[in-house]
Amino acid sequence: MTTYSAADDAVDQLKNRIQKREARIGIIGLGYVGLPLALLYSEQKFKVTGFDIDTRKVDTLAKGGSYIYRIAPEEIQAAKTNGFAATADYSQISAMDAIIICVPTPLDEYHEPDLSFITSTTHSIAPHLRAGQLVVLESTTYPGTTEEVMVPILEKENAAGLKAARDEVFTGKEFFVAFSPEREDPGNTTVARRDIPKVVGGLNPKASELARALYGSIFNRTVPVSSPAAAEMTKLLENIYRCVNIALVNELKLLSLRMGINIWEVIEAASTKPFGFHPFYPGPGLGGHCIPVDPFYLSWKAKEWDFRTRFIELAGEINTNMPYHVLASVSSALNKQHKSVNGSRVLVLGVAYKRDIDDLRESPSLTIIELLQNDGAQVSYHDPYFPFIGKGRKYDLQMKCADLNNLAHYDCVVIVTDHSDYDYARIVEQSQLVVDTRNATRGLQSPKIVHC
Ligand SMILES: NC(=O)c1ccc[n+]([C@@H]2O[C@H](COP(=O)([O-])OP(=O)(O)OC[C@H]3O[C@@H](n4cnc5c(N)ncnc54)[C@H](O)[C@@H]3O)[C@@H](O)[C@H]2O)c1
Repeated sequence: MTTYSAADDAVDQLKNRIQKREARIGIIGLGYVGLPLALLYSEQKFKVTGFDIDTRKVDTLAKGGSYIYRIAPEEIQAAKTNGFAATADYSQISAMDAIIICVPTPLDEYHEPDLSFITSTTHSIAPHLRAGQLVVLESTTYPGTTEEVMVPILEKENAAGLKAARDEVFTGKEFFVAFSPEREDPGNTTVARRDIPKVVGGLNPKASELARALYGSIFNRTVPVSSPAAAEMTKLLENIYRCVNIALVNELKLLSLRMGINIWEVIEAASTKPFGFHPFYPGPGLGGHCIPVDPFYLSWKAKEWDFRTRFIELAGEINTNMPYHVLASVSSALNKQHKSVNGSRVLVLGVAYKRDIDDLRESPSLTIIELLQNDGAQVSYHDPYFPFIGKGRKYDLQMKCADLNNLAHYDCVVIVTDHSDYDYARIVEQSQLVVDTRNATRGLQSPKIVHC
């Protein structure tokens, strides 16, 4: 049995390979998180292999194409010139020095964590694992996933009897494990991705050291924490903080509407306080893969500790109710014009879950469209990022994007996503009635505008 200095050697060798850009990087899951990450490493002259079970994505990348709006095909082609390749073949895992996992972590139909993507990825990696490799999980999940779910599968199913490096005894038959959450804010162009500090929690100090070296090559700052669970919890704290604060302003918006106070004006005024206040904005409901989903990973885990996460549950209740509030506002606005939702022509503006992005996941627009349809409205939509809405996990709308040339045709236009491409003055001028869920019409005065 060798001692800690052998571990130092193994770590130094890999750090050296990272420094010289000789380390081979494998990114598993080439979606909104994994593909940009692969490109960042490729830009830094690493040879990157992307793994995805979606063969359409693999084929598109092989042809130098892109399936993500904000990633131009030219970026894929440049990466390919630097050695980037995508594959569905897990046997190539053994050639990697570092493996970063970016697969989905949704909720199942009972609103409980669905770890099947993480477990199936881990089952696929395990047979190809070799000593000295670093495996990092990036998918958002509850504290304990890396250590309690991922590591046992890797240890049990690898062919060489390898163990995760945990303590000071090092036999040379170890692999390294860490968790490092993705913290990207899609559509935010004010902070470059490399300026978002990267939190890293290794299973032991050597794993943290390696993970910091790996991410230090593409991020300006890494932030070590003491364990994978601390890193997992860090990501959840960030998202729960957003979820709870958004619920708070959503609730205050409902009260302000009743009191005839403009909540947006209030938030703007409160934001002038130079300390102790961070603005959050109300809206038509939560969307995206993260904020509506991640907090419930913690609620679920908390039950194991006989603990109820009441803030999360309350925030979930308020935020989930927001699309119903939009429906009620549309109904009331039409009512004032002696019309009912039933039979009215309604145009939903914006279906992406937030401004200027091409992501529909968990978008409140989809719920709003369904609610309006259920009440008999003839619903159309427009979104510059979505020419068509087909079938998703929870809906099957099969709708084509309408054009914006005949706004007067609609009884009501509902602004659900405030894309910056829209000319709101023209929209108000040409529409019969505008229900604005985002304060997109700020500065415009018209009796046609209903704030909601
Ligand atoms: N999108 C974001 O802005 C964002 C931000 C922070 C964190 N996250 C987290 O990052 C993770 C990934 O999110 P995303 O938005 O990139 O998801 P995504 O759905 O866009 O991409 C995931 C990819 O993983 C692939 N995949 C699924 N199972 C696989 C398997 N067994 N082997 C190989 N590939 C597999 C899918 O085909 C898909 O291409 C999630 O946990 C999410 O919560 C996302």
